[in-house]
Amino acid sequence: MKSLKMFVAIAIVVAVSFSLVSFEMGWVVPAADAAIRNPVTTSAASVAAGKTEYTAKCKMCHGATGVGVGTMAKPSNFTLPAFKAQTDGAIFYKINSGFDKMPSYKTKIADANTKWNIVNYLRTL
Ligand code: HEC
Repeated sequence: MKSLKMFVAIAIVVAVSFSLVSFEMGWVVPAADAAIRNPVTTSAASVAAGKTEYTAKCKMCHGATGVGVGTMAKPSNFTLPAFKAQTDGAIFYKINSGFDKMPSYKTKIADANTKWNIVNYLRTL
């Protein structure tokens, strides 16, 4: 019984430290993904298509202006210089991977060009 309690205690300590490590590391984009070039040249048509998709699937959390609806999209804010400084590839990766409360759109939006259109739209916010 004593060793079982000890085991449970150790398991809890290990689980907590792992979650702290991933919290510290945050949302890491692999360099190879950040370097991927956006194959969809931005245009009025691409931005409009991206906006339609964003309005249907992202606006409820990120808001019409990209600053976030209440705390739904915290800490993201598409209008900040820190967001804009990221490469298109990094933004595309984040849409696919998701993180914490941000859903993964890897299969929810299967078509890659649809996601590149969204990236082009986010650039206009
Ligand atoms: C359920 C709410 C929710 C929905 C729906 C949602 N997001 Fe997010 N999103 C988040 C949250 C929360 C974060 C911040 C995650 C973090 O950093 O902890 C985020 C972060 C992001 C980021 C990274 C921002 C940065 O600062 O680098 C991008 C890009 C993004 N979302 C795009 C999208 C797109 C595109 C869609 C729609 C296809 C979408 N999100 C739908 C909640 C949501």
